[in-house]
Amino acid sequence: MKPFSRELFGSRFGVLMALAGSAIGLGNLWRFPYLTAQNGGAAFILIYIVLLLLVSIPTMITEYLIGRRSRTSIILTPNRLGHPKMKFIGIFAIISAICVMGFYNVVGGWTIKYLTSSIMLQFGSDTADYAGQFSEYISSPYMPLIHTFIFTGLIAFISFKGVKKGIEKASKIITPTLFIATVLIAIRAITLPGAYEGLKYLLVPDFSKVSIDTIQNALGQGFFTLGLGAGTILIYGSYTKSDENITNSSISTAALDLFFAIVAGIAIIPAIFAISYANGSTPTLDAGPQLVFVTLPSVFASMPFGDIVAILFFFSLALAALTSAMSIFESITAFIIDVTEKSRDKAVYIGYLICLIPATFCSLSQGVLSDVRILGLNIFDLLDMLSANVFMTLASLFLLIFAGWILKKEDIIDELSNHGKATTPMWILNTVYILIKYVAPLGVAAIFTYWLLF
Ligand code: ALA
Repeated sequence: MKPFSRELFGSRFGVLMALAGSAIGLGNLWRFPYLTAQNGGAAFILIYIVLLLLVSIPTMITEYLIGRRSRTSIILTPNRLGHPKMKFIGIFAIISAICVMGFYNVVGGWTIKYLTSSIMLQFGSDTADYAGQFSEYISSPYMPLIHTFIFTGLIAFISFKGVKKGIEKASKIITPTLFIATVLIAIRAITLPGAYEGLKYLLVPDFSKVSIDTIQNALGQGFFTLGLGAGTILIYGSYTKSDENITNSSISTAALDLFFAIVAGIAIIPAIFAISYANGSTPTLDAGPQLVFVTLPSVFASMPFGDIVAILFFFSLALAALTSAMSIFESITAFIIDVTEKSRDKAVYIGYLICLIPATFCSLSQGVLSDVRILGLNIFDLLDMLSANVFMTLASLFLLIFAGWILKKEDIIDELSNHGKATTPMWILNTVYILIKYVAPLGVAAIFTYWLLF
């Protein structure tokens, strides 16, 4: 067994930007604003925060501390910590990482295409058929594939450079840029006439819209956005110095991620309302690709300075997708390095090829392979469903059980307290331990059971 040492992140700011970059992704831009608007605005945000504190942050802390204690990738973690029989957790996590890379890289490719189109000022007409253009593009066999290969190539290029000069350096530049670009779009959105109605719709609490589905959505969003159960937090944890305060940096990451998601909501929903009122139509709220690739281009086309906003928006979308995909790719690359003991360069090539296989099928499933259906879903939707609902959830549940019920409490507290050197009060560490042992696993088991039954 190799010694417990590996290349580490260089600075606290670098760790935070890498973790925040991993968390802030497509989920913040195309899912959170829609979920908030549809589920009672601030009422949804409140429920989301409670579930973050009780379930998602403790699960993130678990991945983080296990990664840092074992200093290896998720597949070898149980071995390193003396419980080789638990190796199956890593298998679930790596499968989820590969599934996510399948569809995420395809969407990453779409963001490159839309960024290029916005730079070429192709979103200028408010009467263009953006839905038709989008469906024609994604169903064509070659162009989306080429964009996917480029997007995955960019991630591989950053990964070649290693932890400090690649991931950390890229995150320190990309994550703050992403924040600035999104804040600028939000300022443009709220200064449009009629934006106030959208802002109210997004943020005023309406508890009558809260249902059991709201809770399921809030919990699912917390898991997806923090990237739990795919080994990403664990691998970044394994690159973190032993004086980094795990509890503080997990809370800071979740807070930055939530702040960004709210700013994204302010950038998107009021703009949709303002433009609909100006055109005399009813605002349409969609989630996912429909929102960002169909609704928003027509909103930008109708807005003063819309060309610039479109460039800023697709730039943000591409950057958000890049830093998130980078952390998932790192989970796969580090797994290859740790298991095969190959050099980083070789592992990146292998990782690139591994990611391109499911991505190719996902891309083609929008067109030539659209008739291939498994469990009634095309390949793209199948990988999305399997990763989010099955593999990530189960890997997280097993990691929580591993930390709470198999590892010793002294070891968990020892890691959380930086071997007794951190200043975090003991009652906070004990509370975190109780959340890891009892509350978070119950929450995760509840999401999984609800998904199975309904
Ligand atoms: N954390 C990434 C996102 O929110 C996966 O898109």
